[in-house]
Amino acid sequence: MKKILVTGGAGYIGTHTVLRLLEKGYEVVVVDNYSNSNPEGLRRVEKLSGKKVKVYPNDCCDIEAFEEVFKENQIDAVIHFAGLKAVGESVSIPLKYYQNNLISTLNLLELMKRYEVHNLAFSSSATVYGEPKSVPIYEDFDLHVSNPYGRTKLMIEEILRDFCKVNPEYNVALLRYFNPIGAHPSGLIGENPNGIPNNLVPYITQVAVGKLKELGIFGNDYETEDGTCIRDYIHVCDLAEGHVCALDKLFSKCGLVTYNLGTGNGYSVLEVLKAMEKAVGRAIPYRFKPRREGDIPACYASPEKAYKEIGFKAKYSIEEMARDSWNWQKKNPNGYEG
Ligand SMILES: NC(=O)c1ccc[n+]([C@@H]2O[C@H](COP(=O)([O-])OP(=O)(O)OC[C@H]3O[C@@H](n4cnc5c(N)ncnc54)[C@H](O)[C@@H]3O)[C@@H](O)[C@H]2O)c1
Repeated sequence: MKKILVTGGAGYIGTHTVLRLLEKGYEVVVVDNYSNSNPEGLRRVEKLSGKKVKVYPNDCCDIEAFEEVFKENQIDAVIHFAGLKAVGESVSIPLKYYQNNLISTLNLLELMKRYEVHNLAFSSSATVYGEPKSVPIYEDFDLHVSNPYGRTKLMIEEILRDFCKVNPEYNVALLRYFNPIGAHPSGLIGENPNGIPNNLVPYITQVAVGKLKELGIFGNDYETEDGTCIRDYIHVCDLAEGHVCALDKLFSKCGLVTYNLGTGNGYSVLEVLKAMEKAVGRAIPYRFKPRREGDIPACYASPEKAYKEIGFKAKYSIEEMARDSWNWQKKNPNGYEG
């Protein structure tokens, strides 16, 4: 049985991926400092899977603490989710983002070298494409970033490209996620944002449960059909499956590969709102606000390469994503704290 180290495994995408790995028969070890998560998430993963997860509540930026994981476990591959991800916060506190995201990754690479672990899947983001020249977005498009969070992702991609050039025994998958939403259909695990959510769907669900007054929609004068921004929303369980597909590729000794993980479908903010209203069963109050700096009109993936090379294809519809997001929020109005 192969053993997978999942950094940041207690977080939103991490918990869903750990569950999927356990279901597929992998053994899983997690390292997470709980800076943006709660131990309850992985307890629920254990409940859903009927399996144990070994968790190290350590900080990946502390290389000695991080090394314990490698000393005590023979790791076959790493999925590296650990990182800070709030774009707005990264603009106001850039050093925190550079320190956390870069140092954790450099420590990881140092330990992977020391312990001869040769397979890595890295959580990159569609943000590395900046404003694309056209849509859908293909993996070979130019890369541009406009905020410190995005720069950490692009810098890490570049570090990994440099590293692989001189270490041909390494297999690295740069996985560029589009917009993960939804939750496990059980409603036991889901996204648990601290404070006011930064992302559209958690914001909508919090308006729906009465925690927030109304949704603000930034801009209704974009050159899109209804004037609001278009994004590629992908169910978090589909995204989790994408990691399982990527692991198979890594184990086939692929060198460095890059894949979009998206559905290939773009939905506008108003379309997502409509799907959420249908799931919730009532209207959700909203108000248009001025455009937000840095937002691009439309961003959606070409999912072709991931399908051709790793057999990944997203299955969930926008209605199912809305249903599962609402099911999670309804059952856990205060996230894991409740
Ligand atoms: N959610 C998205 O919209 C999205 C989109 C594109 C890429 N990503 C990337 O995917 C990854 C996972 O995202 P998520 O939505 O699950 O975020 P999340 O915040 O829910 O999960 C990240 C986890 O990493 C942990 N962590 C952070 N820094 C750490 C450190 N130094 N040491 C140990 N643990 C640490 C946090 O406690 C958290 O549990 C992140 O790297 C994120 O940038 C997310």
